[in-house]
Amino acid sequence: MAKVRLGLVGLGSIAIGQYLPQIAEMASAEVVAVCDVREAWAREQAARFGIPGVFNDFDRMLEDAPFDALVNTASIPAHFPLNLKALQAGKHVYSQKPFASTVEEATILIEEAARRGLKMSVSPIHMLRPEIQEMRRLIQGGALGKVSLVRCRSSHGGPEYFQYRDADPTWFFQPGGGPLLDMGVHGLHQVTGLLGPAKSVTCLSGVSEAVRTVRSGAFDGKEIRTEVDDNTLIMLDFGQATFAVIDSSYCVKATQGPGLEVYGSAGTILGARRARPDEPPFELYRDDLHLGLRGWVSPILRLPRVRQAVGVEDLAGAILADRDPVLTPQHARHVIEIMNKCLPAARQGCTLPLETTF
Ligand SMILES: NC(=O)c1ccc[n+]([C@@H]2O[C@H](COP(=O)([O-])OP(=O)(O)OC[C@H]3O[C@@H](n4cnc5c(N)ncnc54)[C@H](O)[C@@H]3O)[C@@H](O)[C@H]2O)c1
Repeated sequence: MAKVRLGLVGLGSIAIGQYLPQIAEMASAEVVAVCDVREAWAREQAARFGIPGVFNDFDRMLEDAPFDALVNTASIPAHFPLNLKALQAGKHVYSQKPFASTVEEATILIEEAARRGLKMSVSPIHMLRPEIQEMRRLIQGGALGKVSLVRCRSSHGGPEYFQYRDADPTWFFQPGGGPLLDMGVHGLHQVTGLLGPAKSVTCLSGVSEAVRTVRSGAFDGKEIRTEVDDNTLIMLDFGQATFAVIDSSYCVKATQGPGLEVYGSAGTILGARRARPDEPPFELYRDDLHLGLRGWVSPILRLPRVRQAVGVEDLAGAILADRDPVLTPQHARHVIEIMNKCLPAARQGCTLPLETTF
């Protein structure tokens, strides 16, 4: 197989803005069919990207289009049913997050893929970011000594505050939206990717800004009632008094703080905001008793930024080389379990144990 043939479902903003243009530049994969319930729109986009197969019905695409792997960029509630149908039809799957809504659904997909010998790669892409891989290598190699605390910022000022599209951001403040699913998922993938599975979760969460006003774009001035928690603080316990704090909020209007901090007995890692491309991706503080050295250093590696479709490249590479994808559904299932337990932990004021691992 020279190139993995892809069928993409969900021609929304991320598919049009990122996946289709980025996949078009890939040596390992090509999109041969697309599907969206908006038929005229799908036809228009297929013509624009020179894609031969166009469908408005997912079952028809599965039956009629000759493709090896699904790229699922549809809306969140459609992820699980479409992923399951694709696996049952013998297709490998790359899915946008979350690839399922519950641990039970995630397990159904993992078992279906395993039973059929199919591969799944699952967004978000943090474990394919070279700087995250390098931080993990340093942590696992003992550069920080015993890690005690990780702090991760997974917040912004709210989609109505940073209105980068001319779309109505109201749904972000309704059930199914909110910063936990939208933003917290990123911090949770980074922290558990660095430290491994957590043992328990506790959480503080609530509505901090009850009414929001859209600040720009086509819906400028619209008032939105906040119906889901907009301010969530997640705490994870990894055992042996290693803790992580992840803020997942739409209440951080601006910050100059690092996105990720890792503190250990022999050092610190501070993730940089990388405002400039030549800025190092993180800084390392080392306290080395043997060498008698103490201070801050930057990695000398030039670490490129990865693009959104790197997850599709991961899946295509895994199919072509018959290896496991880097972005595993087991890791994503663990994050889904944490997210599902955050609000119950906050409401009950308790710590909830975590059962999944990866
Ligand atoms: N937009 C972003 O910046 C962004 C960033 C990161 C992740 N994501 C994730 O990517 C996914 C898509 O986000 P988006 O912003 O592009 O959404 P979107 O609403 O712009 O697009 C979703 C598309 O899926 C189509 N669709 C839904 N159900 C379908 C079905 N059953 N069959 C066929 N088509 C169907 C819709 O018609 C729509 O065109 C989400 O999981 C989101 O969390 C988006």
